[in-house]
Amino acid sequence: MFTREVYIRRREQLKKSMTSGLIILPGNGEAAVNYAGNPYTFRQDSSFIYFIGLDTPDLCCVIDVDSGNEYLFGDELTLDDIIWMGDLPSLKSRCEATGITNVLPLSKLKGLLEPALKSGRRLHYLKPYRYRNQLLLSELLGIKPDTVADNFSLELTKAVIALRMEKDALELCELEKAGEIGFQMHLKAMQLCKPGMSERAIAGTMEGIAIASGNRVSFPTILSQNGQILHNHNHEGILQTGRLMLTDAGAENENCYASDFTRTVAVGGIYTQRQKEIHTIVLQALNHSMQLIRPGIPYRDVHREAYRIVFEGLKAIGLMRGDAEEALACGAPALFMPHGLGHAMGLDVHDMEDLGETFVGYDDEITRSTIFGYKSLRLGRRLREGFVLTVEPGIYFIPQLIEKWKNEHINQAFICFDKLPAYYDFGGIRLEDDVVVTPDGCRLVYPKRLPVTIEEIEETIKSS
Ligand code: GLY
Ligand code: MN
Ligand code: MN
Repeated sequence: MFTREVYIRRREQLKKSMTSGLIILPGNGEAAVNYAGNPYTFRQDSSFIYFIGLDTPDLCCVIDVDSGNEYLFGDELTLDDIIWMGDLPSLKSRCEATGITNVLPLSKLKGLLEPALKSGRRLHYLKPYRYRNQLLLSELLGIKPDTVADNFSLELTKAVIALRMEKDALELCELEKAGEIGFQMHLKAMQLCKPGMSERAIAGTMEGIAIASGNRVSFPTILSQNGQILHNHNHEGILQTGRLMLTDAGAENENCYASDFTRTVAVGGIYTQRQKEIHTIVLQALNHSMQLIRPGIPYRDVHREAYRIVFEGLKAIGLMRGDAEEALACGAPALFMPHGLGHAMGLDVHDMEDLGETFVGYDDEITRSTIFGYKSLRLGRRLREGFVLTVEPGIYFIPQLIEKWKNEHINQAFICFDKLPAYYDFGGIRLEDDVVVTPDGCRLVYPKRLPVTIEEIEETIKSS
């Protein structure tokens, strides 16, 4: 946790940015794997962590915007809890670290809200993503569970996004720690990337590093020779010479901040000519995008410039053709890069995605495109100093998508379809770094960059 003053200040800022009413911020509970006593590793809700900091289950915070009063609801441990799970300082004393002094049992929560409900005061909550909190809010508000999500507070959502989006020095320090763990995970993966190794063993080793050095992985590890499957969680392959291993993974540090890196490396560090050519284009797109990032530039425009590099690079090797502006207007490079250039990152790997990706990544000025490829960009808005985001261009050969475009003549003026079957066993290459926007550009969140050039990657794998 940070100091008490940090949480007090954040809640004061939140109250100032709201007009009136009561804010209900439920924390998360335990979630059972196959029976109640066998839960998934506990993960607190990120907005709860941001405003309250306590990382234990079954808590709920209520903030009265009008009076300024703050309440923390939760139950003290029972003797049974202590016998089986261990003791903790009392909730009352743990709450001192949050700056909240009104600590009440959960049974009092409904009673506090009832007068507000009766008098028609606005009760604000964020859209819940877990059934347990959906049911809690249904019970507290007296509305059906399936109407809870629709009644979330847009005012609260926007206020929380505005506060969480810009990272301060304390948060950057946590993100850097998460970056260091992610760095070690990826370095190990590269060192293990030898013919005959199983994807499962490498993914498991990476996950072990995340757990040993922090909380856990920041999202399910993507590690596969089938990199053309963008979020491939299958680790059943055995590494073979001539293929590429795409690894997209990160860690969550002890204070729940995330990292998210991708490297794609040739098994055994031996690249084919084709792999070198595609790697070089993706690296150019990554470096060029990072050079463009600065306060004021819409990330939508940086994504478009990454598409330009992909287009020009693939044109140079005979896979695309035509005029760049026309190709970009149609989104033709999306055949090879159907995903967005990046996303916000913080307490969540895709920061605040639970609050609504479009609320986080777009605004009144910059709205989401409906064109294939562009529409998958999670973050399109103008960047500001303190934003933390990923930069993750890629080039993939997805046979089913290529066949569809070919058969339906989609963007055929820009794509050399006859050359593509030779790449159907290529897989894909993605390279991803995490940056923070500075007053005049951007810098890596974790200052050491993972090996990224072909020479650096070859050296890392061959010297291990
Ligand atoms: N979760 C994969 C990525 O955003 O990079
Ligand atoms: Mn990633
Ligand atoms: Mn990412």
